[in-house]
Amino acid sequence: MSRKKIRFGIIGLGLMGREFASAVARWCHLKTAAPQPELAAVCDTQPAALDWFKEHVPGLALATTDYRALLAAPDVDAVYCAVPHNLHAELYTAILDAGKHLLGEKPFGMDQPANAAILDAVRAHPELVVRCSSEFPYFPACKRLVEWLRAGRYGRLIEVRSGFHHSSDMDPQKPINWKRIAALNGAYGCMGDLGLHTQHVPFRLGWQPRSVYADLQKLVERRPDGKGGSVPCDTWDNALLLCQALDPRTGAPFSLHFETRRMAPGATNTWYLEVYGTAGSAKFSTADAKALYLLEGAGPEQGWTRVETGSQSFLPSITGGIFEFGFSDAFQQMIGAFCEEFADGGSQHPFGNVTPAETALSHALLTAALASHETRRSVEVP
Ligand SMILES: NC(=O)c1ccc[n+]([C@@H]2O[C@H](COP(=O)([O-])OP(=O)(O)OC[C@H]3O[C@@H](n4cnc5c(N)ncnc54)[C@H](O)[C@@H]3O)[C@@H](O)[C@H]2O)c1
Repeated sequence: MSRKKIRFGIIGLGLMGREFASAVARWCHLKTAAPQPELAAVCDTQPAALDWFKEHVPGLALATTDYRALLAAPDVDAVYCAVPHNLHAELYTAILDAGKHLLGEKPFGMDQPANAAILDAVRAHPELVVRCSSEFPYFPACKRLVEWLRAGRYGRLIEVRSGFHHSSDMDPQKPINWKRIAALNGAYGCMGDLGLHTQHVPFRLGWQPRSVYADLQKLVERRPDGKGGSVPCDTWDNALLLCQALDPRTGAPFSLHFETRRMAPGATNTWYLEVYGTAGSAKFSTADAKALYLLEGAGPEQGWTRVETGSQSFLPSITGGIFEFGFSDAFQQMIGAFCEEFADGGSQHPFGNVTPAETALSHALLTAALASHETRRSVEVP
């Protein structure tokens, strides 16, 4: 690998593959000395998916329908892989065995055995950088929230609520796709799709669930197949996980709630984190993306302060300080954190991407959540 560039291949050129290419195309946006990503090769089994990349990525060396051809390309240093969940284990292990660094998508394996197989490959290749995607902590207001949490301004934790709400599935006429089929998406359903997004910040702060009580919902049993018929829709639509966790800062237990909903009336892509403590509380939601809400001090009257946070995230950008920040910016910041891993002397990034160990913790939690829902009891998270 040259010192200044990381030559990426993308496998899976759908929604997220295009988002990745767009973020790389406007890299001049970031003011970072980290190695710069460059798009060298793309792969999708659907030939039509290659066309957008051929049109929009100048100098693309390879566009192929066979991921093995991409992995054989010597000028590919790292791979961003965004394919359906049932393919994660096969493709992620092949990427690592080919000697490529990996930024994989969540849930990093369709189920716990798949995740374990990926982690075996990670351990077999300690020379490779391996991380999992999760972009919402890079919103500037969430960055400020993380800094506030690390300063311990909350006192003793009472409750933490971390959630991700979608509403596109509220339309029962929305045709089926792989994300609504358990054989392709996995038994976790919405928890596999949305769960790691809600867990990144809590896990990074050391808030590990000791037990979970899960309430899961299947609200739409069948969906149109897009050809005039209907087919089963067998994934969980909504999940509420009530966990008990210990705060390593105080040693005290607190309630940790993870909510992942595909059927949340009115919510388009609403990611939120709310922290309630004895000395202070704070919350952030992408539904009000500029704002960090803080409540500090005790007393009979409690009032929230709304702080508008501007455009600057962990990596500085060329954007004016008071301008707005959005999903594509957060996604680019996430890639920036990955590239920082290749900086001379190692990453100094204050909030790196999800690690393989954190994905294993996620799978332990979601597997316990399935058992909890099945038995209607609280289940220990190993
Ligand atoms: N980080 C995020 O915010 C975010 C958002 C949505 C999805 N995701 C994750 O990204 C991944 C992909 O989701 P998506 O929404 O982009 O899906 P998508 O259906 O839009 O795209 C997946 C692509 O993979 C291709 N594909 C399937 N099998 C392949 C193979 N063997 N080789 C190469 N390509 C193959 C498909 O043809 C399709 O174009 C999933 O893991 C999902 O959970 C992450």
